[in-house]
Amino acid sequence: MRDATRVIHAGVPAPEQGTPFRRGPTFASTYHLSGEPAGAPFSYGRFDNPTWADFEQALAELEGGSAVVYPSGMAAVAAVMGCVLRPGDAVVMPSDSYYTSRVLVEGYFAAMGVEVRTAPTEGDQQAQKLEGARLLWLETPSNPGLDVCDIARLAAEARRLGVLVAVDNTTATPLGQRPLSLGADFSVASDTKALSGHSDLLLGHVAATDPDWSARLRLWRTQMGSIPGPMEVWLAHRSLGTLDVRLERMCANALAIARFLAERPEVHRVRYPGLPDDPAHGVAARQMSRFGHVLSFELPNRESAERFFAASRLVYEATSFGGLHSSAERRARWGGDVIPEGFIRFSAGLEDPDDLLEDLSRALSA
Ligand SMILES: Cc1ncc(COP(=O)(O)O)c(C=O)c1O
Repeated sequence: MRDATRVIHAGVPAPEQGTPFRRGPTFASTYHLSGEPAGAPFSYGRFDNPTWADFEQALAELEGGSAVVYPSGMAAVAAVMGCVLRPGDAVVMPSDSYYTSRVLVEGYFAAMGVEVRTAPTEGDQQAQKLEGARLLWLETPSNPGLDVCDIARLAAEARRLGVLVAVDNTTATPLGQRPLSLGADFSVASDTKALSGHSDLLLGHVAATDPDWSARLRLWRTQMGSIPGPMEVWLAHRSLGTLDVRLERMCANALAIARFLAERPEVHRVRYPGLPDDPAHGVAARQMSRFGHVLSFELPNRESAERFFAASRLVYEATSFGGLHSSAERRARWGGDVIPEGFIRFSAGLEDPDDLLEDLSRALSA
């Protein structure tokens, strides 16, 4: 079945007389449990929960591997790194990945004796640093620079050298790109973004094909206590049903905005993998089924970017991306990324495209 149908039915039980289409969230710290606990479906709230199980079933169907849900994207990132990396191991990170993923390895794991190697996403440059490594970490399209690497090519090279591969698939979502089918061992995501898509919760997940790694990722959650709230998981599962239609509008808006910005004289370096002349377009067209809802561009300096935000009526100035409302931010205000002061990351929302373009035109003129 196609994506729009799959997301509606994913993780939803078969019809049964008198039951709701989807059961409500289960709030429970403990469950009735007499005698021998082994084999009981649910026993204690840190071990498992029926609301997690339904959402994980949905994610497994979309990712093509079994899924474990965590309370945030960073909790999912930390789970993979914590399960895989040991002192003396080497990890190959993208030098342009989401800032906090880099901070986590460079601060925490490096201090425990993990060697951190970095190379840019663009041009598959991480391939040069794989010899003897334990884990290759990819992020494509990268946040915030929107460079793209060839997952299948890098995963094949990593497999040849005995290196595990994790892909942070946050910007694409499993409806835009399926890392496990391209050869990755782990597909990691912040579901805080487009997958849940309403800017009202934090969540993350890891999907894996090897049952052994899935068991270890689940045990990590239990033992670290890195567990999500049932309400957040239930809301994310509810939102999943509209993921296809949301992405359809968001990606179309992103392309329309990228095309519009590329024509404006005051705008420089528009990046969107869906633009035919974008450096990432060739690889993106091969491995992605949609080009995503995030784009970036540069205004001449900090002041012009701040004037742009002050003049826009529709674009929320906010961090994060993937929500219903178009939002954007001057990314350099956080530090950490190698980007100019006027660099803006833009997340296209669900608004009418003409309203967005009119608003952008007004804000740019200001
Ligand atoms: C690519 C990427 N990975 C991971 C994360 C972390 O996700 P969360 O904020 O849900 O912990 C983010 C957050 O912005 C992200 O952009």
